[in-house]
Amino acid sequence: MKVTVVGAGAVGASCAEYIAIKNFASEVVLVDIKEGYAEGKAMDLMQTASLNGFDTKIVGSTNDYAVTAGSDVAVITSGIPRKPGMTREELIGINAGIVKEVTSNILKHSPEAIIIVVSNPMDTMTYLAHKTSGLPKHRIIGMGGALDSARFKYRLAEALECPASDVDGMVIGGHSDTGMVPLIEKAVRNSVPVSEYLSADRMQQVVEDTKVGGATLTKLLGTSAWYAPGAAVSALVHAIANDSKKMFPCSALLEGEFGLNDLCIGVPCVLGANGIERIVEIELSDAEKAKLQESAEGVRKTNGLLEGSI
Ligand code: LAC
Repeated sequence: MKVTVVGAGAVGASCAEYIAIKNFASEVVLVDIKEGYAEGKAMDLMQTASLNGFDTKIVGSTNDYAVTAGSDVAVITSGIPRKPGMTREELIGINAGIVKEVTSNILKHSPEAIIIVVSNPMDTMTYLAHKTSGLPKHRIIGMGGALDSARFKYRLAEALECPASDVDGMVIGGHSDTGMVPLIEKAVRNSVPVSEYLSADRMQQVVEDTKVGGATLTKLLGTSAWYAPGAAVSALVHAIANDSKKMFPCSALLEGEFGLNDLCIGVPCVLGANGIERIVEIELSDAEKAKLQESAEGVRKTNGLLEGSI
């Protein structure tokens, strides 16, 4: 499998690193507009190959998409990350133009690629990639839910004082501080609902901490996070490479699923060789349905800002 990662910043480089360490891709191409930057990151990563035991070839390119030709999966991380105090939505003005151009450049050289969108505001950038490329819905995947769910599991494990591998849970809805819908009532520790162990207040705290997961890190780091976003992308690419049919909440184009139409938002998706193999319409409680609807309103509002871009 050949994977292109556009944007060799912290998220893109982490993504390339985790993909390489898992050793399932033959080649990863890092692309960046900054002269020599992707080449440098690729070389640095390649010098870890003998230490970390991978055979994946990592190549860098300064905006030459010919190098990306024939990619099976392309990940878009380009654009500006948020600074402390900013919302993901505030990035739309700059990132919309970049994501549109990158999508078109990728498809020129890899017409069959499955595209994973990471750039923020992610749900709206995924929608933009759909609208401007006209690709079938299974080939464009927004990465947010896998990351938000990992952060949810981290917060659940913290509250339960147990390893993250003991817990399971999912975050659906928009990838924004207000739009995330952590499905706390459905979260479990070894098949037992977490409500058996946690008070309602503690559960609510887990939900709130999860929703501001990215913002908390942005404040601490002075810029947006990269390890967990990179790991989340690599998990999606791995599921596609292995045709594993693993379920992740991803931002997918909805056409009636969950009663929603003409927007991209996080919902449970089965991932395989075709990208999104299936959207799984899990049963939601009335409260969860209401939260998803409210989240969709927020995403629609941000989509409205695309105006001239689509
Ligand atoms: C975050 C960015 C990737 O949540 O949106 O860290």
